Amino acid sequence: MKILVTGGTGYIGSHTTVQLIEAGHEVVIIDNLANSKESVLDKLKEITGTRPKFYKLDLLDADGLERVFSENAFDTVMHFAGLKAVGESVEQPIRYYHTNITGTLNLLAAMQKHNVKNIIFSSSATVYGEPGTDNLSENLPTGQGITNPYGRTKYMIEEILKDVCVADKDFSATILRYFNPVGAHKSGKLGEDPNGRPNNLMPIIMKVASGEYPELSVYGNDYPTPNGTCIRDYIHVVDLAKGHLAALSKMHPGVEIYNLGTGKGTSVLEMITAFENASGEKLPYAIAERRAGDLPCLYCNPKKAETELGWKAELSISDVMEDTLRFLRANF
Ligand code: WQD
Repeated sequence: MKILVTGGTGYIGSHTTVQLIEAGHEVVIIDNLANSKESVLDKLKEITGTRPKFYKLDLLDADGLERVFSENAFDTVMHFAGLKAVGESVEQPIRYYHTNITGTLNLLAAMQKHNVKNIIFSSSATVYGEPGTDNLSENLPTGQGITNPYGRTKYMIEEILKDVCVADKDFSATILRYFNPVGAHKSGKLGEDPNGRPNNLMPIIMKVASGEYPELSVYGNDYPTPNGTCIRDYIHVVDLAKGHLAALSKMHPGVEIYNLGTGKGTSVLEMITAFENASGEKLPYAIAERRAGDLPCLYCNPKKAETELGWKAELSISDVMEDTLRFLRANF
C-alpha cells in the first residue's frame, strides 16, 4: 500500500515508518520538523534500506497538502502530526487548537477531494480524562475531565472522525489511544529526541543520565499506590509501531477504537530502578511536590486489540531501558 505518514520524522511516526517499510509498504512522509530532525530520514534509510519520499510541510499549508495529494495516490493516511506538550498547550491554547484541529481538517479535506478513505489516527489515553477507574477500556466515556487543550484536541479529533464516518459510509477511521510510549529502536538510531525542555518521564530520565540535568524530580511519593509514586502503562515504541501495522491490516469502513498499551502498570520508582539496572549506574533523583493533574494509577485494558487485531505488546520495561540506553549512548 502507499501510505502517507504525517509526522513521520517524529518519535512514533518514525518507528511506525520502519515497520511499514519492512512490511513492504511505500511510505511518503510529511512533517514540518517542529519537533524532529530531517536526519531521521537518513536513519530510516540505514535501518530499512529505503529513504522515504519526504515533504517538509505544515498541515496548516492547505495548498502544499493539495500538491502532495495531487502528486501521490495514497491508499491510507497515518496521522501522527500534531503538537503534544501538555503544559505548553495550557499556555498557548489557540496555537494548539489551530495546529491540531485545523491541521487535521485540512488533511481530511484533502483526503476527501482525492478520494482517500482510510485514516489511522494517533490518539491518546488522555481522552479518558478522569475515568474513575484505573483499568481503561475503550468503551469508557471520553471528553469529561480532560485537564488541558492538548488532550481536548485529541478528543475533538476523535469526534470529528466519527462524524466523517457517519457522513461517508465508505470512510474508515481507526483511532489508536496510546498509553505512555517509551523506548527506542534496537539499532540505537531512532528514539525520542524532543526539541526543547521535555515534560515526559523518559526523556527527562535520559537528560539526567546524560548529565544535562542534575537530577530527576519524582512528582509525589504519597499517592495511594504500593510505593507511593504514580503508576502508568509504559509501552515500548516498537510494540506501538507494530500495533499500527496490525490496525492497518484490519481496516474496514466505520470507526474502530483501540487502546495500545501493555495492560501492566509500572511506578515512577520502578522505572528508575529498571533504568539503573540497565545502566549499572545510580540515577540521581529527589522526591518533589505532586504535579497538578496527575492521577495515581492508569493502565489499559488491552483485550480489544489482542482479540480483534491479533496484536499485543511483547517487549518489557527492561527492553525499554536497554534500547533507550543504546540510543542515548549513540546520540548524546
Ligand atoms: C509519567 C509519570 C509523572 C516527569 C502525559 C500526558 C498524556 C500523554 C503522555 C503525550 C507521572 C512522573 C514525570 C518528571 C515525574 N501525552 N514524572 N517526574 O503524565 O502519564 O501523560 O504524557 O504526549 O496526555 O498527560 O506521562 O511521562 O509526563 O509522566 O515524576 O520529571 O512520571 O508524575 O506519574 P503522563 P509523563
